[in-house]
Amino acid sequence: MTSTTTDPENPTAAATRTITVDTFAVAQQCYRNRDLRQGSYDEGDVVMSDVVINLHGAEHRNRRRLENRLFRRDTFWHYEQDLFPAIFDETLAPHLAAGRTELVRFSHQLMMNLAALTAGVDRREGTPEETFRLYDYLMLFIEGATIAHHTGDKAAKTAEVAGALAAFGEEFLAPGIERRRAILDRIAAGGAPESELPPDVLSVLVRNQDNLDLTPEIICREVAFYMLAGAHTSATAFTRAMHNIFTWLEDHPEAAEQPRTDRLFCQRATHETIRLQPSSPVAVRWAEADFELADGTAVRTGDKVVIDLPTVNRDPAVFGDDADDFNPLRGVPEEAHPWGLSFGMGMHACIGQDLAAGVVLDPGSELGGHLFGVTPVAVQTMFDHGCVPDPDDPPEMDPSTTRPYFGRYPVIFTRST
Ligand code: HEM
Repeated sequence: MTSTTTDPENPTAAATRTITVDTFAVAQQCYRNRDLRQGSYDEGDVVMSDVVINLHGAEHRNRRRLENRLFRRDTFWHYEQDLFPAIFDETLAPHLAAGRTELVRFSHQLMMNLAALTAGVDRREGTPEETFRLYDYLMLFIEGATIAHHTGDKAAKTAEVAGALAAFGEEFLAPGIERRRAILDRIAAGGAPESELPPDVLSVLVRNQDNLDLTPEIICREVAFYMLAGAHTSATAFTRAMHNIFTWLEDHPEAAEQPRTDRLFCQRATHETIRLQPSSPVAVRWAEADFELADGTAVRTGDKVVIDLPTVNRDPAVFGDDADDFNPLRGVPEEAHPWGLSFGMGMHACIGQDLAAGVVLDPGSELGGHLFGVTPVAVQTMFDHGCVPDPDDPPEMDPSTTRPYFGRYPVIFTRST
């Protein structure tokens, strides 16, 4: 049922009404409604100001249209088949050699390496030190984007993130922009083929800087956003999927080998994890017109609409009476996705969904050519190496945020391949 609340300190003010949506059908209606403006990142401006997810109307459409060209299934297939395996092997090798790793840090390193490629963050030195510097920037950008949930001094953290963004721009983006401009000049003069331009977000932005009115600061935030949107969400889903599978296997010892031998199982376990534990638990919107929701609730201009995703994704009308349970073997009705609405829908629908989680295999289709997504592939790779929780070092939650993230998740590898 949709519920409406007013600010107790100012109960007569129309603009302070909050409408919370907790059913699947009404949530879909809200995602599709163009009179609802993005409001999820109102406090994360230091990283999120003017980035695609915060734009509305024509401005959003123009930016998204250009970026969409990069995010096509055939490009994802090329990434998954040709480019990512080497990055996987390289990132995992030192951890395998040590016989252990810590999943939160490892998954952010792995997903950052993949996301940097799509965002267009060049690593000129190619050294581990350079990667660790980038990693430190990424972790600060994540804190900046989710500053609303920060439990410490928000102003101090915002200043720190702003400083990091400027330093990141100077070290990682300025040379990358110069390189892409030089290539574009050569292409324009007929001296270089189109294929010389790296297929990444930075190239798209540099090429269209004038059409889209992009300042250097906006370019810097957009690339930082792509890096964090690609890395943090997938890394979080990965660690939670590992945890959910470990726990599920305790009750299903007969399936002990399945995560290692069955990549489709890993994909379904990842989708089920993303449904139950969405990376962004709420989607916030501001109403720019009066209208009525499917359940009869009146929305007025200025209302805040909050989609409560964990509840929406557990709607028993769609996912059944056991919707709260983690069940990687769950059957999902045709009208819903196995991940619920965790990738959003409508104008802001996640651009990297297929890259992160692949596509759903049609009944009767062959596995050859199936896109699994980087998160399921990463999950299966871990099981392939006999990954189990470290019995002497239990996982801990992250105390620096009110969001339910793991802070540490130590594991060991029990199998050499
Ligand atoms: C498990 C992984 C992921 C999850 C759960 C996820 C979730 C989401 C959600 C819920 C939205 C919509 C937010 C809203 O409507 O307010 C979104 C948008 C977006 N995501 Fe993802 N995402 C994931 C991976 C990725 C990846 C890998 C990339 C990039 C390579 C990416 C890039 C974006 C971008 C650019 C948007 C904004 C689109 C727009 O506003 O037009 N995401 N994502």
